[in-house]
Amino acid sequence: MAIEQTISIIKPDAVAKNVIGQIYSRFENAGLKIVAAKMVHLSQERAEGFYAVHKERPFFGDLVAFMTSGPVMVQVLEGENAVAKNRELMGATNPKNADTGTIRADFADSIDENAVHGSDSAENAAIEIAYFFGTDGLCPRTR
Ligand code: PPS
Repeated sequence: MAIEQTISIIKPDAVAKNVIGQIYSRFENAGLKIVAAKMVHLSQERAEGFYAVHKERPFFGDLVAFMTSGPVMVQVLEGENAVAKNRELMGATNPKNADTGTIRADFADSIDENAVHGSDSAENAAIEIAYFFGTDGLCPRTR
């Protein structure tokens, strides 16, 4: 199995609910290691840059407004099939469709405020890791 890294963002709604620790426990219980982390309050420019791929979508303005409404917790998760594993833990984009026991089912209130972001491919994970943590490379966890 491939050891991968992926970006996870705990969004402003979940930070405000004070559930960072509960979400981290889910990563750890699934065998994912946190190899980098920081709390940031995104500027409009940084949020627009991160979501540039969605700039033509009708919800783009709302998404950027939400993501700049308060601090977010950004982390790099590492482990076997980390991209898919994180997406599985997150649940469907719309919490109404998210499987029981997923992060979005338990902590998200709506599709607009859906608690977490996760990279959708290894290729995008590399781009997103560089966006938040630079291109120097992250130290892999050996234990
Ligand atoms: S996904 O998870 O990327 O496959 O989902 P997608 O449908 O492509 O959505 C891309 C991001 O836009 C957010 N989104 C929305 N925000 C506000 N309002 C509406 N209606 C809406 N629909 C989708 C969705 O949560 C995705 O954000 P991230 O941060 O990538 O999860």
